Amino acid sequence: MNNKYIGIFDSGVGGLTALEDLKKNFPNENFLYLGDTKRCPYGTKTKEELESIVESDIRYLEKCDVKMIIIACNTATANSYHIESDVPIIRIIEPTCDVANSKEGSIIVLATNYTINSNAYSKFLNREHYKVPCSEWVEIIEKAQTDSKISYESANKLLSPYKGKVDNVILACTHFGLMEKEIKSVLGEDINIINSSKCLKDKVKETLDKVGYNDQKEKAKVIIRCTKDKDAFNVSWLDINYDTLEEVDI
Ligand code: DGL
Repeated sequence: MNNKYIGIFDSGVGGLTALEDLKKNFPNENFLYLGDTKRCPYGTKTKEELESIVESDIRYLEKCDVKMIIIACNTATANSYHIESDVPIIRIIEPTCDVANSKEGSIIVLATNYTINSNAYSKFLNREHYKVPCSEWVEIIEKAQTDSKISYESANKLLSPYKGKVDNVILACTHFGLMEKEIKSVLGEDINIINSSKCLKDKVKETLDKVGYNDQKEKAKVIIRCTKDKDAFNVSWLDINYDTLEEVDI
């Protein structure tokens, strides 16, 4: 048994979509979520900037004494391979590609500008695919402007060239689960969505089998931290309970 927290991070609210899925799958576990709002967005930064940001996020969670670190951010994952840690690290890109590789048909990858330009997905996908940089959605989501004229217009502008051409959409940015309505409004209701945020459970289970599960189930907690503007951190859509929402300086 191991009663430490599971650490999970992203640049902002996007990784909360992964936290939500994981808390539902592992209700007895303690979770500590870090949304690095001070340095958000990640997807328009340089490799050098991102490597040092991601390292500091990981060192912060190590200091919090978590039992594993989940990088619930595709952009951060693409810049995390240089980091060594005594704490097991779960990266989001490979498990998402494993799911996509098991599906039939054409694929479109929607990600931040950085993730698209780094070809991080192309290394693990087993077939040719379309790639669309959608960093402008991150701001829309962080500002809680989804389901609005601006979000539908942006989706239409970026995705209409692919209408009727794709079977599977990879949401290769954890923020983009919050744009699902807009994406379907352009690419069609029956498009198969592969949300990277929902591809982590098998890896988490595998890691819990090794590091140990929490045995103080009745006290399981969810702590959410952000690095700037706690009052603007939009968790209103979150479909799980959390205990605290705090601002920290890391
Ligand atoms: N949610 C992050 C991802 O999965 C990136 C958002 C950002 O640009 O900060 O890539």
